Amino acid sequence: GTSDQDKAFQDKIDRNVRIEPRDWMPEGYRKTLIRQISQHAHSEIVGQLPEGNWITRAPSLQRKAILLAKVQDEAGHGLYLYCAAETLGVSRDELTEQLLSGKAKYSSIFNYPTLTWADVGMIGWLVDGAAIMNQVPLQRCSYGPYSRAMIRVCKEESFHQRQGFDIVRALVEGTEDQKAMAQDALNRWWWPAIMMFGPPDADSTHSEQSMKWGIKLNSNDELRQKFVDQTVPQAEWLGLTLPDPDLKWNEDRQSYDFGTPDWDEFFNVIKGNGICNRERLDARNKAWDDGAWFREGLMAHAEKTTKQNIA
Ligand code: 3HC
Repeated sequence: GTSDQDKAFQDKIDRNVRIEPRDWMPEGYRKTLIRQISQHAHSEIVGQLPEGNWITRAPSLQRKAILLAKVQDEAGHGLYLYCAAETLGVSRDELTEQLLSGKAKYSSIFNYPTLTWADVGMIGWLVDGAAIMNQVPLQRCSYGPYSRAMIRVCKEESFHQRQGFDIVRALVEGTEDQKAMAQDALNRWWWPAIMMFGPPDADSTHSEQSMKWGIKLNSNDELRQKFVDQTVPQAEWLGLTLPDPDLKWNEDRQSYDFGTPDWDEFFNVIKGNGICNRERLDARNKAWDDGAWFREGLMAHAEKTTKQNIA
């Protein structure tokens, strides 16, 4: 049953009082935050791989420099979020082991391949666009370290989204082949981007409790709808066709009606059977193994200096 402590905690949440690391919190609150923040951090780290694939292949020095900066930002977002998760009493090593062993989830979207340069544009425009939609409310979530991390992250994400849109703009204003490449990428990225917001509210295991605790401020379907309403006019401006025959403006709702994502594909991907899940985990495990000598060197150096200081 709900103890007095639970009641006092819920009262703090209802009064929009930020919860800080040293405050008492229900075990379930701590657990779901460790789950969500660590998965968010893993998403940032794994999210570097699809884009990293194009740093050496960028069509110009300027695009290469922008992409390098973006991938570096994602690494920073990951480290920021791992630190926020550590304030809840979990260690970085535990979180790393959960990712490398395949136990932890990360955003479904990063299990799709980046086949052409247009995909890099779609990741910025759609994936970061969706990530912003989902991260802006998190700036006001009840857990202090997470909400503060989001303020910094959201500032950098808007640059990510703008540069992606600009890549797509350059393609649709280019040759017929370039416009066709952009349309092909949109056909492959539209539905996975829609699925990033999570399952339909009716199938969402955590939403109800997360909303009660002020972790989730808007439901999955609400943010998904906002993303569609914001993105359709952008696709029209670009002269690209969204791959959804059911997409139609609904005057009564003042929103777009749209088709149903393939939720079997979604649950299959988050179960680990997506196109690139294996490749992404292999890449992370290889990076971890290849970096062992460097970590050992740092630890040996740290021991030596600590010994000197003690001596
Ligand atoms: N990818 C992988 N798993 C997902 C998912 C997705 N897109 N959406 C939902 N799930 C999982 C949930 O983790 C949960 O499984 P679990 O119990 O094993 O953890 C299950 O599906 C049920 O979904 P729920 O709706 O109940 O789960 P949540 O309440 O956690 O809602 C969420 C899902 C909206 C993604 C929420 O976790 C969230 O807001 N996470 C933080 C934000 C985030 O991760 N954004 C995407 C990161 S992409 C990014 O930032 C990189 C970009 O900068 C390039």
